[in-house]
Amino acid sequence: MKGKILVTGGTGYIGSHTVVELQQSEYEVVIVDNLSNSRADVVDYIGQITGVRPAFEQVDCLDRPALEEVFCRHQGIEAIIHFAASKAVGESVQKPLLYYRNNIVSLINLLELMPKYGVKGIVFSSSCTVYGQPDVLPVTEEAPIKKAESPYGNTKQINEEIIHDTVKSGVPMNAILLRYFNPIGAHPSGLIGELPNGVPMNLIPYLTQTAIGIREQLSVFGDDYNTPDGSCIRDYINVVDLAKAHVYAIARMLEGKQDEQVEVFNIGTGRGVSVLELIHTFESATGVKLNYRIVGRRAGDIEQVWADPAKANKVLGWHAETGLDDTLRSAWNWQLKLRERGIQ
Ligand SMILES: NC(=O)c1ccc[n+]([C@@H]2O[C@H](COP(=O)([O-])OP(=O)(O)OC[C@H]3O[C@@H](n4cnc5c(N)ncnc54)[C@H](O)[C@@H]3O)[C@@H](O)[C@H]2O)c1
Repeated sequence: MKGKILVTGGTGYIGSHTVVELQQSEYEVVIVDNLSNSRADVVDYIGQITGVRPAFEQVDCLDRPALEEVFCRHQGIEAIIHFAASKAVGESVQKPLLYYRNNIVSLINLLELMPKYGVKGIVFSSSCTVYGQPDVLPVTEEAPIKKAESPYGNTKQINEEIIHDTVKSGVPMNAILLRYFNPIGAHPSGLIGELPNGVPMNLIPYLTQTAIGIREQLSVFGDDYNTPDGSCIRDYINVVDLAKAHVYAIARMLEGKQDEQVEVFNIGTGRGVSVLELIHTFESATGVKLNYRIVGRRAGDIEQVWADPAKANKVLGWHAETGLDDTLRSAWNWQLKLRERGIQ
């Protein structure tokens, strides 16, 4: 075994895929999740995929005493990957205090406990939302941080600053901030994937739910943007590839290879794909026709953003590997599996 890693939000979408990759790379994992946006059976499915059932603690990161007990029960945690957060942009506008409390206090609790229990570092789930609409594309880590469009986006910016300030104050810890672009797809086993609560806010679950007949029609918000086909452009990153980036980050941290105490990496493919291109690729990859229509622009949408992942490629040694066709087939396979399980 290589080391014990605490994964908050480890039964969630990106967290569960990361736990699989960590275990397959011989790390020992302790999951903390309050199951506010995930299901306990994810732990069993991770066990089925990897042959190892990770330790699971149903604990809220806001509950400081309960969180501290986790560190006591699982002595020797070397690093944390902190996924646990509320993540619905629209809901964050309606309930800003819920978002500020959950996303910021959870991180503060962890940072306060880390030195007491000798935890060497934290990998934090940040987002390309910190760049807003970049002036230059592809966007590098040097691009200026733009004023956040939502309380959710603001929590990512504030949390990045909290981590910088904590390290600067002399607390003996390292950090790696991973700015994800748009994670999509599911594990090739079809056993874990994204499980949206209610009406999906993200494009892919809405798209696959439309394809399977749960939703009537997929709306494409705007075809009059300044892009080749007029629809918005994003950098869609396969969730297993994204999960692997965390394993590279943890190895770099625990092997003491960081150049700076806080490092920042874009985690994307480097390729911008328009919403219409994504729909057509889904249709050709799966043979399933999608009922979609173009509607007006949606407030707050960024026109186009894609990553320059050169730093992650060179410094972390990580590359996005999976093609869009395979990724979209995995998302469709996951939707079919959910139906078999009677979930959606
Ligand atoms: N999915 C994306 O498009 C995306 C993009 C950029 C960044 N991120 C960030 O990546 C992280 C993981 O996102 P995801 O898509 O896997 O979301 P998710 O909702 O599937 O996973 C988050 C998990 O955290 C848990 N959780 C939330 N608050 C908690 C708390 N207080 N204590 C314990 N557990 C708690 C939830 O139950 C859930 O299992 C989040 O920080 C998110 O903001 C996600």
